[in-house]
Amino acid sequence: MSTNSANPRGKVTFVDPAGFTPHFEWKNSPQEKGVEHVFCEDVDLVSAATSFGTPTYLYSRAAITDAYREFDRGLGKVPHTICFAVKSNGNLSILQHLAKKGSGFDIVSGGELEHLGHLGVRGDCIVFSGVGKTRYEIRDALQYSPFARSGRKARGDSGILLFNIESEAELEVLLEESERNAGRGGKIPSVAIRVNPDVAAGGHPHIATGSHTHKFGLDWPEARRLYLAHKDSKHLRWKGISAHIGSQIVSLDPFRRAFRRIAGYISELGRAGIQLEYLDVGGGLGVRYTTEKNSSRVEYARMVASLAQPLGLHLLLEPGRSIIAASGILLTKVIYTKRNRGKTFVVVDAAMNDLLRPALYGAVHPITRIARESGSEERSVERVDIVGPVCETGDCLLHDWSLGEVRPGDVLAIWAAGAYGMTQASNYNARTRPSEVLVEGTRSKLIRRRETQHDLLRTDPLAPGRRRPFR
Ligand code: LLP
Repeated sequence: MSTNSANPRGKVTFVDPAGFTPHFEWKNSPQEKGVEHVFCEDVDLVSAATSFGTPTYLYSRAAITDAYREFDRGLGKVPHTICFAVKSNGNLSILQHLAKKGSGFDIVSGGELEHLGHLGVRGDCIVFSGVGKTRYEIRDALQYSPFARSGRKARGDSGILLFNIESEAELEVLLEESERNAGRGGKIPSVAIRVNPDVAAGGHPHIATGSHTHKFGLDWPEARRLYLAHKDSKHLRWKGISAHIGSQIVSLDPFRRAFRRIAGYISELGRAGIQLEYLDVGGGLGVRYTTEKNSSRVEYARMVASLAQPLGLHLLLEPGRSIIAASGILLTKVIYTKRNRGKTFVVVDAAMNDLLRPALYGAVHPITRIARESGSEERSVERVDIVGPVCETGDCLLHDWSLGEVRPGDVLAIWAAGAYGMTQASNYNARTRPSEVLVEGTRSKLIRRRETQHDLLRTDPLAPGRRRPFR
């Protein structure tokens, strides 16, 4: 059952995502009669919270698989590679699972590339995006070769599928490094320009990227100049064009508009004798957090495929949020409840350092109890603020929410936290980052242990156990 309610100003005050999130649902508690718990696949979240502690990110493997497959199937026969945006969730077990399903990856740093290297991911399914790749990151990427856990080099250096460059200055560095690399027998890199189609889109101003006022990409006249100027370069091959217009875009219209502009750029290049192979349409498809009416993955994929088919190019997609957001929740425990002049606060053990999105973007992640009497309504008349222990007024996970009655020790789920949750977590207030758990059927596996205070201090020269202070 899913219940939605809105206050008079249209603000959502309660929604229960267990009613609409695939692979999460209410089921009878195996232990107590007349009580229901939320399950992820066949794992009881109440037991998971006891076993793994809180706060813990917990993901459904089946939800990740389904999301990947929906994109894949929706794209049909159009040649394509789905490059999961590692920035949205970089957990190695999750990346490995996606790689096994056939996913490629979109990275924005040398660090993300190194993580993929640890998994043995081949370069020919990696696209390197990002507005500020350093010379060293470019150099490493030119020489990329996946290494097995043993540290041995994998056979067959494949080279990165595509460097998406974003400025002339970056292009110059890439050319210099490519020339050096060629001297050592390195391959000529395949390159695209990230163009800025100047389409307004995206939820929050911080996550809109496709307009000329944003730092991303190049305007078409500038991009065209660079394509033509380096048409016959010995140190790069123009292989593609890319765009990413923003994130949490729930309607297909902005994607359509951007796509049509880019299709025009591709034919202009064709007329100038530059035949591209890849069209990288970026990520950005939105998801349902509360009451959003988002386009589905299949609708999006079909739309992109139908527009791409006449172009005859290999499509690249870079979805992050739309694959992993709804696959994950953050489990947290009530520490205290308190009242201040008629206002009730529920203080929980997760905070803005664990999930930054509410503080940074005003994002609304529904929060619900995960145990209830069978058939009872979860919401209440009373509205509460659910807050974390961090010493900031901004450390409020959710305002004015009809949570229902809770007591210290009760476990809550913070929903749709799988994307940009753990990857944006920090150690603010010397808090250790949460553990991560992957559910598969009846099994739940720790895929990243909770940090310890030792982890936090290990780079500090004055930490206990270090022999000498740093001079
Ligand atoms: N490709 C590029 C070049 C990107 O910059 C991004 C996200 C993606 C793909 C993946 O976009 P997605 O499919 O996840 O929308 N931290 C923010 C989101 C920032 C998105 C940055 N770029 C949030 O929590 O909402």
